[in-house]
Amino acid sequence: MLRLPKALPRAISRPFCQVSRRRANHTQPHSNSQTTAGRTTHFGFQTVPEESKESLVKNVFDSVASSYDVMNDAMSLGVHRLWKDDYVSQLKPGSRGPMKCIDVAGGTGDIALRILDHARENYADRETTVDVVDINGEMLREGYKRFKKTMYHNTSQIAFHEGNAQALPESQFPSNTYDMYTIAFGIRNCTSIPDVLKEAYRVLKPGGTFACLEFSRVNNPMLSAIYDQYSFSVIPLLGTILAADRASYQYLVESIRRFPSQPDFAKMIQDAGFVTGGMHEGKGGAWTDLWGGIACIHTGVKI
Ligand SMILES: C[S@@+](CC[C@H](N)C(=O)[O-])C[C@H]1O[C@@H](n2cnc3c(N)ncnc32)[C@H](O)[C@@H]1O
Repeated sequence: MLRLPKALPRAISRPFCQVSRRRANHTQPHSNSQTTAGRTTHFGFQTVPEESKESLVKNVFDSVASSYDVMNDAMSLGVHRLWKDDYVSQLKPGSRGPMKCIDVAGGTGDIALRILDHARENYADRETTVDVVDINGEMLREGYKRFKKTMYHNTSQIAFHEGNAQALPESQFPSNTYDMYTIAFGIRNCTSIPDVLKEAYRVLKPGGTFACLEFSRVNNPMLSAIYDQYSFSVIPLLGTILAADRASYQYLVESIRRFPSQPDFAKMIQDAGFVTGGMHEGKGGAWTDLWGGIACIHTGVKI
């Protein structure tokens, strides 16, 4: 049964003070820090109290929800579709029989739809299921509307749930339940990456696969310079023109630069208990770069 999230998330209105704002170096450290005033984290290039980040991120996605899919196409010139196709086809959902999948920070359901289509088109599998989880009710509503136009609407193959990747309620998402956990372009928005990974490990069955698609580090200096120029000039401008929202798209660009490098993130996945490939890119490695590392797929297996 397709379930519409019952309630929008509560508006969180905690005070937030901007401690610093830096633009000089586009690649910023990602670790949380401790100040005498309390724990802080990053929100794009700003440093904010940890407890404020969730509501700030929520504001961003409330603001972009209705234009999210159009803007994704415009900002990436459609390339995000190729990356998502690549990501899902590498995971081969349905190849070993129906799977129980959870797509966290699933937004408007882009990955869920690809998982279900892949299983059906390649393996005639109509039993694979996806639970889409997102902290933002507005994004889920867009996803729900979109699934209404598909054959999966009103079937047990898809369900939408409001929830925080860092603390999935055990009653709704019991331990050792899922064959596959996906998170695409979502984990960098979360306050604590280790908490997200811990939850991913908990809900997966032993032998289950964790797979993350995220923007990452470009190592080629020439590509990196072009990419920086495009990101910091064109994307906020597109946000202004197409969505009348420069600030949200500025945040999206900045948040990408704060995300850990490929090896650092692979180490975090291992620290959460997953077995990964070797500490290198490509075949047999812990990650696969897409377009020179603009995006990257990390995988791990729960043992
Ligand atoms: C850039 S969108 C990605 C959506 C989708 N996965 C895709 O690839 O199109 C990031 C999503 O992460 C969600 N998100 C941010 N923080 C979250 C959290 N702590 N728990 C669950 N979802 C979160 C946002 O609401 C948003 O829908």
